Amino acid sequence: MPHLVAPSLLSANFLNLEKDIEMVNHSQADWFHLDVMDGVFVPNISFGLPVIEKIRKAALKPFDVHLMIIDPDRYIERFRKAGADIISVHTEACIHLHRTVHLIKNTGAKAGVVLNPHSPVSLLTDIIRDADMVLLMSVNPGFGGQQFIENTYRKVRDLRELILKKNSVATVEIDGGVDLRNAPLLIKEGADILVAGNTIFASPDPEDTISLLKNF
Ligand code: DX5
Ligand code: ZN
Repeated sequence: MPHLVAPSLLSANFLNLEKDIEMVNHSQADWFHLDVMDGVFVPNISFGLPVIEKIRKAALKPFDVHLMIIDPDRYIERFRKAGADIISVHTEACIHLHRTVHLIKNTGAKAGVVLNPHSPVSLLTDIIRDADMVLLMSVNPGFGGQQFIENTYRKVRDLRELILKKNSVATVEIDGGVDLRNAPLLIKEGADILVAGNTIFASPDPEDTISLLKNF
């Protein structure tokens, strides 16, 4: 499949979110990436359910909700109701990951499983056939605008091998420090979806940057 681009609203202008949402609507972007942080799993707090519900009213593309929260099972149903199409949870935050993945799928949403930079792809051996997507963090989660961790290229390769070996249909998403230099390499290694925050929203022409990420 041609790769997808998912702008992360974490780097958008919170004072005028509607303008940035409309820009994404109008652009070649495929999804909205929404980063939810609880200040416990990651050292930052972003936004939650009421904000996502409001964004849903203006946004015209699928919602890719990245939960950086502990014990996400408590909120899965509510994020689905707030408009999430894909809900991703961290392996490091879920004690019963298999249960959580199926909880997500039972709501009708697609289930994503996230690996922090230190977590090996081998952790996914027995969940890869249940997951719809794997999100590889290419920075330590918590903040936008961080530097891409180069080891991610090898992880994409390992993940592709695992997906093939296990006959899984999971797609591969990369999140953190994605820019116009590393994006083509990530796609070459087997990434399907690129999340980008700072690269898009800090650029002089965000809509054009989205097309550049989409068409290289
Ligand atoms: C980081 C978030 C990312 C972040 C990416 O914890 O999961 O989605 O917004 O931002 P950039 O692309 O600026 O690294
Ligand atoms: Zn994210």
